[in-house]
Amino acid sequence: MSTDFMVVGNWKMNIPEEGVVEWCRSLGVWCEGRPRGLEVGIGAPYGELSFVSGEFGGREEVFVLGQDVSVWRGGSYTGEVSAKMLKLWGCDGVLVGHSERRHVLGEGDEQVYEKLRRVREEGMVSVLCVGETLEERERGEAYGRVSSQLHRAWGHDGGVGSDFLVVAYEPVWSIGTGRVPSEEDVREMIDHVETHLEVLMGEEEAGKVKILYGGSVNGGNAFDLGRVEGIDGFLVGGASLSFEKFLPILESVNSGGVGE
Ligand code: PGA
Repeated sequence: MSTDFMVVGNWKMNIPEEGVVEWCRSLGVWCEGRPRGLEVGIGAPYGELSFVSGEFGGREEVFVLGQDVSVWRGGSYTGEVSAKMLKLWGCDGVLVGHSERRHVLGEGDEQVYEKLRRVREEGMVSVLCVGETLEERERGEAYGRVSSQLHRAWGHDGGVGSDFLVVAYEPVWSIGTGRVPSEEDVREMIDHVETHLEVLMGEEEAGKVKILYGGSVNGGNAFDLGRVEGIDGFLVGGASLSFEKFLPILESVNSGGVGE
């Protein structure tokens, strides 16, 4: 995987304010003048994936992500979407274990484990989301929670390989709330994730895994957050829902210092 700073927009179950076509057109224009060193991911709803991947198919700096995937490879599972389908629709990767899936839709670590493997089987990258709830943080259990999510996702079978894994640290209490942990707290957790990955896959492999921060990232805090030691990118929800709000995040990365 490249060493570029990675900014991933996650539209969730929303269409951007200006519509998908206009949003993508704006990103395409911005990419024309883009300095090197930045990759942009788009987590689009299923129905938009083919269009988005068609728009950016030839651009190596833009990649397309499904927001979830089935634990099954195929068959009679009404409403499910397989990794093979995501691949057919042009996805390069998939968000796995997003906190809304874990906490709102009841997804457990066992499903996350299976999903990582389905994504890997199709040669796509998983953006594995981990993070603690507010109660866990207040009880001093944040680090333990994140370790356990990483450990269970990795499993006992050698994991999915560093080339197929990005980790997004997203404190649940920060998602969509406007509350952001201190830069020190983010740095310590990124450090913790790095150390835990080293235990799981060895130092060399762990060094290749990008670690993103997600939770209320916006144009006002991206510059400072992006300079936190060890951060390789952002996962952005609300501020990706209009290109006008997303742009300052991309620009903050370009304005120097970020991700270095
Ligand atoms: P947010 O969402 O940027 O709206 O907090 C982040 C996420 O859910 O990945």
